[in-house]
Amino acid sequence: MSVIIETRKLSKTYEGAFGSQDVVALKDLDLVVHGGEIYGYLGPNGSGKTTTIKLLLALIFPTSGEIEILGEKNITARKVRQNIGYLPEGAYYPDFLKGEEVLRFYGRLYGLGGKDLERRIDAVMDTVGMTHARKRLLRGYSKGMRQRIGLAQALISDPQILILDEPTTGLDPIARKEIRDILARLRDEGKTLLISSHELLEVELICNRIGILSYGVLQTQGAIDELLTDREISILVAGTEQGAAQLEGTGITVEDTVGDRIKLRVPDETHVYDALARCKAAGLQLVSVAPRRETLEELFVRVVGAAEAAARKAAV
Ligand SMILES: Nc1ncnc2c1ncn2[C@@H]1O[C@H](COP(=O)(O)OP(=O)(O)O)[C@@H](O)[C@H]1O
Ligand SMILES: [Mg+2]
Repeated sequence: MSVIIETRKLSKTYEGAFGSQDVVALKDLDLVVHGGEIYGYLGPNGSGKTTTIKLLLALIFPTSGEIEILGEKNITARKVRQNIGYLPEGAYYPDFLKGEEVLRFYGRLYGLGGKDLERRIDAVMDTVGMTHARKRLLRGYSKGMRQRIGLAQALISDPQILILDEPTTGLDPIARKEIRDILARLRDEGKTLLISSHELLEVELICNRIGILSYGVLQTQGAIDELLTDREISILVAGTEQGAAQLEGTGITVEDTVGDRIKLRVPDETHVYDALARCKAAGLQLVSVAPRRETLEELFVRVVGAAEAAARKAAV
């Protein structure tokens, strides 16, 4: 698989103004984004996601380290610039413009014009499902519609790479799903997407690979299916609450109850046969035993929690 974006020991320190402390926003980042994937770039607020994105776009300059995009070390080269579409965090477009006017403006920035530009506008409006509203003023758009125009703007030059800074933050569930569907379609058409987010469910639903950033340090990076491993066992039993109550203090926990079905969670270290014996003794009928996949939220809390604990320890 081809590597589309790669950074080596990329670091950024913002110098403190007027004698205030320097901020180390990013430290020794080795990011790898493959062609045709959606890479979810995760981290709490202030962890360095936007800083990374601005570095990739050459909007700010690294303190040290290297960036290579599309095999090119000079990331301001035309070949690179033309091939990156960017949607900034909380993008704002003037209210008095029509949707299509926003795209015309950005298209010209990319050097497009005339019939070519109009053809691109038709195509991207269609991609984001905004053809019906393209002649309306942004003033009358919902948040989701504005965000779709933002996506269309990022797509205007038909770039190979899309870099989207928190594209679904602040949207309602329907608008999120619409954006998610568009992003998945773009990936299926062969584009490479880098999406920053702190909304884990979104990421789990559409990303192929993820990186988790905390305090400017990449804590983990890899394919989502490899990172979210089967760490525990899930046992489904039929029985009564009183039966389940007998499991208290054994390390087995009740995860969910629907009718007489009780879903139990068995931590790795507990022997599964032992757990089954306890269920039997408690009068619970076995329905199924299955591996339990860790959720992205659990992985995130584990990784970021460990980094925060280490940071606290280093501070004392
Ligand atoms: N222009 C700047 N000057 C000084 N510090 C900054 C600047 N931009 C960001 N920071 C700091 O760098 C850190 C990372 O910020 P940012 O990259 O915006 O994180 P995220 O996008 O993950 O929320 C934060 O501590 C932030 O306060
Ligand atoms: Mg940010």
